[in-house]
Amino acid sequence: MDDRPIGLLDSGVGGLSVVKKVIEKLPNESTVFIGDNAHMPYGDRSQDEIIALTRRSVAFLMSHQIKLLIIACNTATAVAMATIQKEIAPQVIGVIQSGALAASKTTDTKHVAVVGTSVTIHSHAYAHELHMRNPQLVVTELATPKLAPLVEAQASRSQNLVTVQGSLKPLQGHDFDTLILGCTHYPLIASTFRQVLGPQVKIVDPAMQVAQYTANVLARDDLQSSGHSVYHEYYTTGDPAHFEKLARPFLGEAGLTVQQVTTEVKP
Ligand code: DGL
Repeated sequence: MDDRPIGLLDSGVGGLSVVKKVIEKLPNESTVFIGDNAHMPYGDRSQDEIIALTRRSVAFLMSHQIKLLIIACNTATAVAMATIQKEIAPQVIGVIQSGALAASKTTDTKHVAVVGTSVTIHSHAYAHELHMRNPQLVVTELATPKLAPLVEAQASRSQNLVTVQGSLKPLQGHDFDTLILGCTHYPLIASTFRQVLGPQVKIVDPAMQVAQYTANVLARDDLQSSGHSVYHEYYTTGDPAHFEKLARPFLGEAGLTVQQVTTEVKP
């Protein structure tokens, strides 16, 4: 038994799509989440910047005595996870490995498309993970850099529709039966993706498999919580009111509060 919380990080509200699935799957577990909204989007930054910013959020979560870290950000998983794994004791779980596993099981035609930030797509981390699971898979990768900022902006449904339609246009004419939402922000507007793609494309949100994998790791390592005094804490380096406005309805926690913190390292 281990009642310490699970730590999760993202560049912003996107990580909530993972928090939600983890809480649903593991109701006995406490969680601490940090969204680094002050430095979002990560998807247009250099690898060094992403590693430095991820380190700061990890240090913040480690000060909350986390027993396990979920990098609830594809961009940080793609470029910072290997570094972080070497630097902290708790097990580190990323989202890309789970997304690739889920998609490889979901596709019938063996043609998979993945959308994500520029950094994630240009890292080819998804193509690599998919081919490790099945070398026969045909993978189409598309950077959709406008979509994470769109979710952060809490735009209208019609604005979401126009922007998702425009961003996915390059996929027209490509043959795929499965699309991976390779950015944790995208599941927050999953209904818009569904509207644009139609009913025939299978949409994979890696978060479900992340929650399952987390459950397996906790059981394997005897880290499950007793379920006494479960809590969920939310922190942002940005504007907490803006964050709450989206987080409350999305997580269905009317009383949810978000605290503003800084992860700046003091000289
Ligand atoms: N939510 C993040 C991801 O999964 C990135 C969004 C950003 O560009 O900051 O990749």
